[in-house]
Amino acid sequence: MALVPLKRRRRVARSPPAEPPGPGRFPSVVLCLVERRMGASRRAFLTQLARAKGFRVDVAYSAAVTHVVSEQNSGAEVAQWLAQQRGACGAGGDPALLDIGWFTESMRAGRPVEIEPRHRLRVTVPAAPHGGLMASYACQRRTPLLHSNQALTEALEILAEEARFSGSEGRSLAFTRAASVLKALPGPLGTLGELGPLPGIGEHSRRVIQDVLEDGVSAEVERVKLSERYQTMKLFTRIFGVGVKTASRWYQEGLRTLADLQVQSTRLTRQQQAGLRHYEDLSVPVGRGEAEAVSRAVQAALQRVLPGASVTLAGGFRRGKQHGHDVDLLLTHPEAGREAGLLSQAMSWLESQGLILYQHSQESSFVLCEGPGAPGARDCMDRFERCFSILRLEAQRGQRGPGAARGWKAVRVDLVVAPISQFPFALLGWTGSQHFERELRRFARHERKMVLNSHALYDTQQDLSLPAASEEEIFQHLGLEYVPPLERNA
Ligand code: CTP
Ligand code: MN
Ligand code: MN
Repeated sequence: MALVPLKRRRRVARSPPAEPPGPGRFPSVVLCLVERRMGASRRAFLTQLARAKGFRVDVAYSAAVTHVVSEQNSGAEVAQWLAQQRGACGAGGDPALLDIGWFTESMRAGRPVEIEPRHRLRVTVPAAPHGGLMASYACQRRTPLLHSNQALTEALEILAEEARFSGSEGRSLAFTRAASVLKALPGPLGTLGELGPLPGIGEHSRRVIQDVLEDGVSAEVERVKLSERYQTMKLFTRIFGVGVKTASRWYQEGLRTLADLQVQSTRLTRQQQAGLRHYEDLSVPVGRGEAEAVSRAVQAALQRVLPGASVTLAGGFRRGKQHGHDVDLLLTHPEAGREAGLLSQAMSWLESQGLILYQHSQESSFVLCEGPGAPGARDCMDRFERCFSILRLEAQRGQRGPGAARGWKAVRVDLVVAPISQFPFALLGWTGSQHFERELRRFARHERKMVLNSHALYDTQQDLSLPAASEEEIFQHLGLEYVPPLERNA
């Protein structure tokens, strides 16, 4: 029997003809066929069939894909496939996960048929990126910015915030954890039963999830949103320089509005006064374009005071967010020691240009936490030279909001300086999300007996600090799969 040599057969059947994806006859439908179990040649055949009927079929997954079709795969398997594709292309997307039945019916009809429940694959056990059940630490999961359970996570996060406002950190963390797990699900949760063995979703969270799944809203969440206390706490804690404790005290004193605070402005710190003065501007989210403009302005200042110094956009923008509450910038210089004093010089220059509306600097207070008798690495969190500021940003093209007419806008900017040897730790620490960071540190402590902070990774068993030249190396030291910034939106 003349078998086609395996190698050649592979090459022939490997991938369907890669035609440039056009809009096709049905612009709102972009198919992607899963090769697993379907086989390469059948996939190629089905691809051609669909294209001949005017469907757009993409060979590679991207966020544009609306319909993922597979044959003889379980929902969990396709969900896992999807998580891998999202990881590989760095894109989100929220395609329907469909069985081949939908495809054949559509081909017969010559148009995409309505998706019915029977077409959908059931996602029962959510997959971790590399098989198995969902990992229990958020730093072991990939969490894209866009996910499929927005209504659920918003509800849970309101309760998390409410708990934080009440000083119940533990309860707040429980809701945050539950939301974070849902963010990592590869598809929309259909029923509570599908949650099965998911880690870290407690009774209360389950109740909320059930309510939202069944009624579209949770009565408890709606009640919280409308409560005077929640609304006032939200208003007050949005002020730069106002934390939960202060806001809570003001609420108890009967203060309710910004006007109430203005009357008492002598009681406010300088930072809070600045926050109140620029409240309107600061409550409009900073856009990515604006963040980049701020970054360029700071880079220009660095060029003046210390050529060779660099600025890196961290925080939510590095995780792919298009908007944020502030701009987080990390400064360093490739030669160790040259970064000393950099920030105050850069701020002075910006000041001389009239770009600083408020600044509050902290000197570096980092002490190496190594060896026996050291103060303990736990104590040296965030001791970089840093500056919390409000910058004046000239109006960007297309800018809307209160600053547009005036020609400039106040923007919150956090600046941090890290010596080059600590830069990867600082970058990892300042990229977030906050929950991802918390989970990284918890993982390091409980699973590896290591202490991680924005300066260093310390192995308590070997009693030494583990150096790293990149974020990847830090993940390696921790024995964790590397999670790129775009997937740290836990
Ligand atoms: N961070 C920190 N120490 C602080 C403040 C923030 O280490 N005193 C870290 C946080 O852990 C987070 C990152 O800096 O990882 C960014 O914080 P923040 O700006 O508050 O959050 P973002 O994720 O950037 O959210 P947003 O887009 O709303 O600014
Ligand atoms: Mn930020
Ligand atoms: Mn910040």
